[in-house]
Amino acid sequence: MIRITQLSMSLAAGGRAVPILDNISLEIPDKQTVAIIGPSGSGKSTLLGLIAGLDRPTAGSIELDGAELTTMSENALAKFRRAKIGYIFQSFHLIPTLTALENVAVPLELSGEQNGDARAAELLASVGLAGRLDHYPVQLSGGEQQRVAVARAFACRPPFLFADEPTGNLDSAAGVQVIDLLLGMHRDVGTTLILVTHDHDLAGRMQRVVTLRDGRIESDRLTDSLLAAPLP
Ligand SMILES: Nc1ncnc2c1ncn2[C@@H]1O[C@H](COP(=O)(O)OP(=O)(O)OP(=O)(O)O)[C@@H](O)[C@H]1O
Ligand SMILES: [Mg+2]
Repeated sequence: MIRITQLSMSLAAGGRAVPILDNISLEIPDKQTVAIIGPSGSGKSTLLGLIAGLDRPTAGSIELDGAELTTMSENALAKFRRAKIGYIFQSFHLIPTLTALENVAVPLELSGEQNGDARAAELLASVGLAGRLDHYPVQLSGGEQQRVAVARAFACRPPFLFADEPTGNLDSAAGVQVIDLLLGMHRDVGTTLILVTHDHDLAGRMQRVVTLRDGRIESDRLTDSLLAAPLP
């Protein structure tokens, strides 16, 4: 369960504090799939980064699996993120000096997995990249890089997966492929999936759609896909 209570964020710009998120409260049960939508600048990426522990809020509380993120030390937070959180960026964020296989093996090795390479190869095969293990990110298409990022994010089977416009840099076919993978892994692992998107069709494939406007929740609704794709 994710429990966000009275979350606010302001950032300093031009010598004054600019409010970015204003008093957001949200509860997300385990295994739910949620789309966060809203106009550019409404605070979607800021909110996602805060829930994933990538940043610290100005005020409010963020609880994941009963752990309060806002008061954790940097070390404890890093450890918590490694164990529980996968994050996918619009621009892939693979390590350019590592091959596809090595990129996926990194989190496995950090978590103490013995057969990191074998497991990474298996994961890459599951996203259709068995033939690309030794390719560096520059040698992969955008869709392929994002599939490596999906394999990496799921490597440690995290209970929480966040994706910030994961299809924003992909054509529609590659985008559908990435979303099918995310939903497939959500079904297999039971991951809570929260993704930011500008794509209303994609948002409609999630069980719930939260709309932000000017740093506040404008609407919060369940979609029909709750009926189409019941919780595992
Ligand atoms: N480091 C920063 N310092 C000051 N203001 C910032 C900073 N980062 C973001 N902002 C502002 O916070 C607001 C929300 O930004 P955010 O990136 O969360 O929006 P978004 O909803 O993800 O937009 P987009 O759809 O364009 O990605 C914007 O007005 C942005 O200019
Ligand atoms: Mg954004």
